[in-house]
Amino acid sequence: MSAAWVPERTADGSWTLRQRELDEACHSSAGAWLESLERYAVPCRLKQVASRQERVRLLDVGTGLGLNIAAALHELEGCVGALDVVTLEIDRTVIEATLALATIGATHASEREHAVVRAALSTALDAASDGGAVALGANGTLRLLLGDARETLAQLPATLEAFDAVFLDPFSPRRAPELWSEAFLSDVARRMAPRAILSTYSAAFGVRRALAATGLRVGAGPRVGAKAEGTLASLTAELPALPERVTRRLRNRT
Ligand SMILES: C[S@@+](CC[C@H](N)C(=O)[O-])C[C@H]1O[C@@H](n2cnc3c(N)ncnc32)[C@H](O)[C@@H]1O
Repeated sequence: MSAAWVPERTADGSWTLRQRELDEACHSSAGAWLESLERYAVPCRLKQVASRQERVRLLDVGTGLGLNIAAALHELEGCVGALDVVTLEIDRTVIEATLALATIGATHASEREHAVVRAALSTALDAASDGGAVALGANGTLRLLLGDARETLAQLPATLEAFDAVFLDPFSPRRAPELWSEAFLSDVARRMAPRAILSTYSAAFGVRRALAATGLRVGAGPRVGAKAEGTLASLTAELPALPERVTRRLRNRT
C-alpha cells in the first residue's frame, strides 16, 4: 500500500482512500459507493443513453479508486450497450493503492463491478501507460490517461467521438483549483455530446459560474447522504432547476 494513500471505510461499508498530504479523501465518509451511484452514475442518465445507442462514452475526471466507473457498470447492468471510458488521473500511486486495497474490500456490494474495473486498471498500468484502450469487462473499454488532466484531455484526438457523460470528481476547488478552472471546463464542455450530462459534487458558485461560462446549462445535482446538493451541466438536457437566487446571480455574473 502506498504511504501517500490511507484506506478508510465509509458509512455504507465501502472503502475509499485519503491522500495523506492533502488530507482529502476520494469520497464522502457517508458512503463511497452510495456517492458513486447517486452522485454520478444515476444523474448522468446512463441507462437513457444506453437505450438510444450501442455504446456509452464516459469521461471520468479523477480515476482514484475507479469506484465511479464501477458504479457506471452497475447502473448499466442488463442494458445491451457497452461502456467506453476515458479516465484521467495524475497519480498512479492511487491506482496501485486501490489494487492493494482489493484484499480488504472484497465483501462489499460494489465488489463485482469494482473487480472488473481493477482488472482493467491493472492491465492499463502494465501497458506502459500508453493510454491505449484495454478491455473493461466483456465488451467495454477503458483508456487510462496518466498525467495532468488538463494536458491529457487536450491530447485526445479532436476526431474522438463526443462523450455522453462526464464524472467531474477532482479534489476540492481549494486543493486542485486547476480542474475547476473555466479553461479546463471549456475543454471538457467541447468534448460533450449535446445531450451529455456532467455531474460533480461541488455546488460552489464559482464552479457553477465557470460551467455556465462554457455555454452549458447548469442545474442542481442530487443531495447524497449528508452532503448538500451537487451540480449538473449539459448543453441541451433538461436539468433540475437551481434556486432562483443562484440562477439570478449566474445571469448577472455577480
Ligand atoms: C476525489 S478523487 C477521485 C475519486 C474517483 N473518481 C473514484 O471513483 O474513486 C480525485 C482524484 O483526482 C486526482 N487528481 C488530482 N489532480 C489531478 C489532475 N490535475 N489531473 C488528473 N487527476 C488529478 C487525484 O489524484 C485523485 O485520485
